[in-house]
Amino acid sequence: MQVVKSVRAMQRLAGDWKRSAVSVAFVPTMGSLHPGHLSLVRQARFLVGPKGKVVLSIYVNPTQFGPREDFSAYPRHLAKDVQACRREKVDVVFAPSDEEMYPRDPQFSTFVTEETLSKLMEGASRPTHFRGVTTVVAKLFNIVQPDIAIFGAKDYQQASIIGRMVRDLNFPVKIVVAPTFRETDGLAMSSRNQYLKGDLRKQATVLWRAIERARAAVRTRSRALSTQRLKTELKHLIEEEPAARLDYVEFFNPETLLPTLKVSAGTHMALAVFIGRTRLIDNARL
Ligand code: PAJ
Repeated sequence: MQVVKSVRAMQRLAGDWKRSAVSVAFVPTMGSLHPGHLSLVRQARFLVGPKGKVVLSIYVNPTQFGPREDFSAYPRHLAKDVQACRREKVDVVFAPSDEEMYPRDPQFSTFVTEETLSKLMEGASRPTHFRGVTTVVAKLFNIVQPDIAIFGAKDYQQASIIGRMVRDLNFPVKIVVAPTFRETDGLAMSSRNQYLKGDLRKQATVLWRAIERARAAVRTRSRALSTQRLKTELKHLIEEEPAARLDYVEFFNPETLLPTLKVSAGTHMALAVFIGRTRLIDNARL
């Protein structure tokens, strides 16, 4: 396995593979790898087979963090991540520096923005977040030149926005969305779960309990379940946990991401909850 840190070296490798018609599957991450990330690596390997190449990038992308967010505190464990990748038979870990990704002098000044899906939910709470995500993913696609890229359903809106960007800008990449990997108590795995000390870890299961409550409501109640009533009920459930504060819970059409007035089987639910100072997100199809 190779660890590549420069953009030029990565592009050279990608060019060699392209000329020899080797299939490349790509898993972009911000590192601090957990079994959820590794499930994407397995999917990548399955999709390209033993002769294909699997590239995983590790880059904590500054442009997708807001000024009051956890960019500097975000966990970084490069040596451990590289070991995990070696065990998973990743071919290349691409781990660029900020200087490689965002040149200064003259200052980096080109951004990619998706302008519809990015305004909802996470985009409403974190206004510059998706511009950072689409910009860095577009750059990574140009550097790694994958045939397939795998994203987690854990960040459902992110995967939808990347799918839209790829379609709109004609990136020659197939986007695959892999299921959310969870702890046994339902908590979606996330690098940010490391912030949950003591009792907070237990309180964090309230996101999953809220999803289960909504699923039960869809199963047992009238066909025209009011979104507003369900939102109020879930806010109460969530805020019974002393450290929990609901940021948003939304019910939406899984294709358009547009909010629905009624909730029924097939409606998608997403929520963001602060557990203490840690902001967690989750989503599921009901
Ligand atoms: P990061 O949060 O590290 O996640 C990298 C990929 O792993 C994303 O596609 C995410 O959806 C997926 N993932 C995270 N937790 C998961 C889980 N529990 N189950 C399944 N998949 C999971 O998402 C990002 O990084 C960044 O925004 C990035 C796309 C790398 C751009 O900087």
